[in-house]
Amino acid sequence: MKKYKKQKLNNASLKNLSFINLNLNKSKFENSDIEMCDFWEGSLKNSNLSFTKIKNCIFTDSNLLNSNFKYSKILNSNFTHSNLKGVDFRGSIIKNSNFRDAIYDKSTKWPKNFYPKKSLFVTKHKFEKVKPKIKKNNRLVENIVRVLTEGKGYYVLKNYFKKKKIQKAQKILKRIVYKDKSIKQHLNNFAKDKKFSQKWITNLLNIDPVFIDLIQPKIAMQVFRKILGENFICGFYEANCLLPGARGQFPHIDYPYNYNYEHGEDIPFQTKGKFLFNCQILVPLNNIDKSNGSTAFLDYSYKFSKFPNKNNIKNYKFKQIKAPIGSLVLFNGLTWHTSMPNYSYHKERYCTLGQYIPHFIKPMIDIQATTKKKILTNDKKYLAQLLGLKAKFPIKKK
Ligand SMILES: [Fe+2]
Repeated sequence: MKKYKKQKLNNASLKNLSFINLNLNKSKFENSDIEMCDFWEGSLKNSNLSFTKIKNCIFTDSNLLNSNFKYSKILNSNFTHSNLKGVDFRGSIIKNSNFRDAIYDKSTKWPKNFYPKKSLFVTKHKFEKVKPKIKKNNRLVENIVRVLTEGKGYYVLKNYFKKKKIQKAQKILKRIVYKDKSIKQHLNNFAKDKKFSQKWITNLLNIDPVFIDLIQPKIAMQVFRKILGENFICGFYEANCLLPGARGQFPHIDYPYNYNYEHGEDIPFQTKGKFLFNCQILVPLNNIDKSNGSTAFLDYSYKFSKFPNKNNIKNYKFKQIKAPIGSLVLFNGLTWHTSMPNYSYHKERYCTLGQYIPHFIKPMIDIQATTKKKILTNDKKYLAQLLGLKAKFPIKKK
């Protein structure tokens, strides 16, 4: 293959030419016939390739930003890993061409009846980073980050969700709880074993779309991106449904799992809160307060970097939160917390719990494996990221 030497590009017949790694920005190829040409890693920003016949060409890793391919005929060509943002393919014919891992977005204009998602040769670049837009709530995000990492370690954001949404979630879970055989069987037994006053509900994403919203509250995503890194994932997402009379827990942390430390044991690394292995959210589906055993936190306890002792609930002043329906509770994963006993006889206390971790930590629950694929592909927000579609974990070699 010959190296490209400066020559006339438009209305030309170009064959067997190498343009590898060349800067060809603003080039004019219109009305040309290009065959067996190699543009690998070339830069063709703002170039004109309209009314051009392109056959057996390589555009791998090329930058085609804002280029014009209108009314061109593209055959057997390789566009893998190319940047197609702002590229205009309208009116062109594309056949047997490979767009695997090409980067494109809404600014890319495809020919009519050409569906990149459906095409065998095209994979949408799913994990393209979206630049965070400057929003009015930036100050709130900063404030929550500060409270979680330098303040008391948890934040109760009231009136975040619409009441109707939360009531819907509550109704759905209630139906599941009261269908449970053990719960039904012991419902009218006053002295029943306390374990029949609690039910964990898993696989929430498959149950109803409302839970797809509750796993990814926008403000929490904005906060965790800052604390856990851009590509954080979800390590746990379930609902804890507590009936009147349910027992509380021992104080604990889930860092990043709730079973890898003994009570009283120090966390074996001291990052002084500057680097966190997890953050959590709690969405109350009832009004929660002392009367129905709301969650208790110990202010600033993340500074201990320690798994609490069982009796620390008595030695320290844990505070039970008061959070009406519609609230979102966010907390630093090192903050000591516990669900308290529900001493009431008539008040339920349901909540969804989500744990978020940096992408290199293996999640406690493989939510990706249990979630229907359709749910994942339909979501336009954070679900693919949260369920670790991008995360790669090392595999033990045999
Ligand atoms: Fe916990």
